[in-house]
Amino acid sequence: MNVKDLMRPCILNLAPYSTARDEYKGGDIDIFLDANESPYGDGGVNRYPDPHHLLIREKLSKIKKVAANSIFIGNGSDEAIDIIFRVFCTPSKDNIVTISPSYGMYKVSGATNDIEVREVQLEEDFSLVADNLLAATDSNTKVIFLCSPNNPSGNLLCKDEICKILSTFKGMVVVDEAYVDFCENYTSFSKDLVKYENLIVLQTLSKAWGLAGVRLGMAFASPFVVSVMNKVKYPYNVNLLTQERVARELDREADIKIYCKETIFLRLDLSKALKPLHFVEKIYPSDSNFILVKMKDADAVYNYLVNNGVIVRNRTNVAGCSGCLRISIGSSIQNREVISLLESYI
Ligand SMILES: Cc1ncc(COP(=O)(O)O)c(C=O)c1O
Repeated sequence: MNVKDLMRPCILNLAPYSTARDEYKGGDIDIFLDANESPYGDGGVNRYPDPHHLLIREKLSKIKKVAANSIFIGNGSDEAIDIIFRVFCTPSKDNIVTISPSYGMYKVSGATNDIEVREVQLEEDFSLVADNLLAATDSNTKVIFLCSPNNPSGNLLCKDEICKILSTFKGMVVVDEAYVDFCENYTSFSKDLVKYENLIVLQTLSKAWGLAGVRLGMAFASPFVVSVMNKVKYPYNVNLLTQERVARELDREADIKIYCKETIFLRLDLSKALKPLHFVEKIYPSDSNFILVKMKDADAVYNYLVNNGVIVRNRTNVAGCSGCLRISIGSSIQNREVISLLESYI
């Protein structure tokens, strides 16, 4: 398999937009009159941001132990998902295969790009059977999207099953690791990039790093795949304020590790407290910053919580999640409030 052959010819042949600053390769410059920017502006926002996100990629490279040229930076990992569709899938011809239930944006990005999305139901305990996914592929399947730990079920997918897909499928395999920081004793698939040239790993700063509002996501892939994804993105996809804030936040890795440990502790605390409640049927094991809880009457519990000022995610209408609410792990005070509200539910 040659990854190049999987890409849309129009993208391979694309001459990317060349930014004003890319064209000049000389020494120090004091006066910038090349990009039709304004000379008036506070804190540098009158200037276009770095289209190559050099500082952020350098810092992420050290934290994630992934070479900087194997890192794509997006306006959230949602942007990376959309770009993967645009690089590999020809509208109204190709298809992708994904798991169900899973993160909704694979389906939305498929629909906006006019790509068929084939959903393969996970087992009842949300485990992955590689052969079921492989059986759903055909010669027009360009990408398999996996999410591990999976949203909304919360569980890690079996590594051996993912490896089976990576080594058998003759297309790209995306492993979305948005919640990876909440897993204990787990090695990210980013360590396998050299082994599998068809692997793309997604991660984000929206979860463990507490930066959902800032919008920064990553894709880790071979330098070639990253270079093609970079051709397709908007030149200035990550704004200056985000780049500056993220560069500062990335120095706080030690704090983030502490928050993640706390979240894992509170996840257990919440699960333990909910287990004995008479209307709770099942709490699914979670490797994420949320738990999926099966209730006797999910709609009623959902409405009760909303009426008491707490919003959770009602997943009861999602295939395989009948009766389920997805509850994010909040602070310990928020956790306690939810527990005491549910303990008073009749
Ligand atoms: C599995 C998964 N991937 C990606 C995302 C989106 O991440 P971002 O905020 O980086 O776009 C989410 C958000 O909820 C998610 O659950």
